[in-house]
Amino acid sequence: MQLPLTLFLVHLTCVHGWKTLRVPHAEGRDDTPTLTALLHNFTMDSTILFEEGHIYNIWTPLAFPSGLQNVEIRIEGNLTYPDDITTVQGIVGSSSFPGAWFSFNGGTNVTLRGSRKPNWGWVDGHGQAWWDVNEQTNRPHGWSFKKITNGVIRDMKIWKPVAWNFATSGSVNLHAFNNRISALSDTDVRPFRLSFSAGGTNMLFEDNFIQNGDDCLTIGSGAKNIHFRNSYCEGGHGLSIGSLGKGGSVADVQDVLIENVIMRSTLYGARFKSWTGGNGLARNITWRNIALEDIYITQNYWDQGVGPKTNSSSINNTRVQDFLFDGFFGTIRDIPYVEGSCVTDPCWYAVPGATGKEVAILDLYPDTASNVIAKDIFARTQTGSAVAVMCNSTTVTNDVGFKCWNGPFVRTSAGF
Ligand SMILES: *[C@@H]1O[C@H](CO)[C@@H](O)[C@H](O)[C@H]1NC(C)=O
Ligand SMILES: *[C@@H]1O[C@H](CO)[C@@H](O)[C@H](O)[C@H]1NC(C)=O
Ligand SMILES: *[C@@H]1O[C@H](CO)[C@@H](O)[C@H](O)[C@H]1NC(C)=O
Ligand SMILES: *[C@@H]1O[C@H](CO)[C@@H](O)[C@H](O)[C@H]1NC(C)=O
Ligand SMILES: *[C@@H]1O[C@H](CO)[C@@H](O)[C@H](O)[C@H]1NC(C)=O
Ligand SMILES: *[C@@H]1O[C@H](CO)[C@@H](O)[C@H](O)[C@H]1NC(C)=O
Ligand SMILES: *[C@@H]1O[C@H](CO)[C@@H](O)[C@H](O)[C@H]1NC(C)=O
Repeated sequence: MQLPLTLFLVHLTCVHGWKTLRVPHAEGRDDTPTLTALLHNFTMDSTILFEEGHIYNIWTPLAFPSGLQNVEIRIEGNLTYPDDITTVQGIVGSSSFPGAWFSFNGGTNVTLRGSRKPNWGWVDGHGQAWWDVNEQTNRPHGWSFKKITNGVIRDMKIWKPVAWNFATSGSVNLHAFNNRISALSDTDVRPFRLSFSAGGTNMLFEDNFIQNGDDCLTIGSGAKNIHFRNSYCEGGHGLSIGSLGKGGSVADVQDVLIENVIMRSTLYGARFKSWTGGNGLARNITWRNIALEDIYITQNYWDQGVGPKTNSSSINNTRVQDFLFDGFFGTIRDIPYVEGSCVTDPCWYAVPGATGKEVAILDLYPDTASNVIAKDIFARTQTGSAVAVMCNSTTVTNDVGFKCWNGPFVRTSAGF
């Protein structure tokens, strides 16, 4: 018996040793197995092309072979996840799940490139159905771009991702630019959807446009020399370092510059989170020129899902050194509103004693923080009442740029 020819038609172009795989598509079927069977021939000097005109069914996870060398993945067609929740949950919950729906695991000179055509090149996660019922079990991670040396992520467009988007841990020399994450809800639910999770060294993120519902950027332990700039973040939780030091682990984050970012309707602007009882060091971190809502820094983070805040007697905490918040402009939303990410009462981001008018909250431990400065901070509240700060002068000895107390914002000499 003969099978339909299209299943076996592999479009292949070969120019000067450079190969192009035109990814085959079959209507009504999962395209992942066919592609996976072909990939081993395209791990070097190759373009893997999802063609415009097709809506590819990525109904099972796509894991690229390790050791890619000079490979470009071009997404000019649309890609779609399964649209029913239980199918995805079954796969994510199985022992064979590779950790993300799209995963890379090592390689050199790897480019992930989307399309600039408005109606093509979208990766559709069908997240709305998950958000509407607040389904948090076995959510898929999106793109895991791990252990890549000389990576590029450009022009990618993500539509309604269920949860996390790009993770880059262990990669070196990454340029991620002109990407778009569109995770706006049609309804008023607004659960957690993370955009970029940076966990490697020498990374430049720029010109990204992100509408989501969790950290716009999160920088994890092991990150060094990370530059994030000229971007737009809407509806999320902020530009974050951490959370670091969970379960007493040793954190290491250094040389981070985040600048020229518009933060619209976000919970926080800049944010640093380390767990109570953690270890290690976060050093030389600057947030500069941020148009925003609020800034928040805590060495005392805990997970809302695991019960009340612990009364830690540990004297250990991730040390904080040379933090600069330089140039924050904008309004603080002090008219009560429903933010949507609260799944506990009190809300996970509630700070005891906070009034909602704080432009800065420094929640630090004694003897572990040095040279934390906030300068050129220009904020006002929506109601016009006085802008406040929270700060405990026994925990940080340098001039932080404002009077260190729980009270109105009063600029001091380091704040100019
Ligand atoms: C694909 O790989 C097989 C062996 O794995 C090889 O025989 C074949 O020539 C390759 N095809 C192309 C087009 O490179
Ligand atoms: C990666 O690209 C650079 C610059 O084009 C080239 O010099 C290098 O040989 C490539 N690395 C590999 C492993 O092909
Ligand atoms: C591709 O996906 C996006 C997002 O779901 C959608 O708006 C667009 O219409 C799709 N393109 C086509 C040609 O179906
Ligand atoms: C606290 O830090 C010290 C010195 O770095 C280390 O030896 C010790 O193991 C840490 N304790 C905990 C509970 O992590
Ligand atoms: C701090 O980090 C920046 C990169 O953000 C780097 O250019 C600078 O050299 C670092 N400074 C120190 C003292 O390590
Ligand atoms: C922590 O201490 C406070 C005040 O002493 C107490 O009310 C609270 O229950 C304690 N929390 C835990 C988790 O033990
Ligand atoms: C300030 O911090 C010290 C040391 O952690 C603590 O004992 C004190 O209660 C704090 N003061 C306020 C007002 O929170």
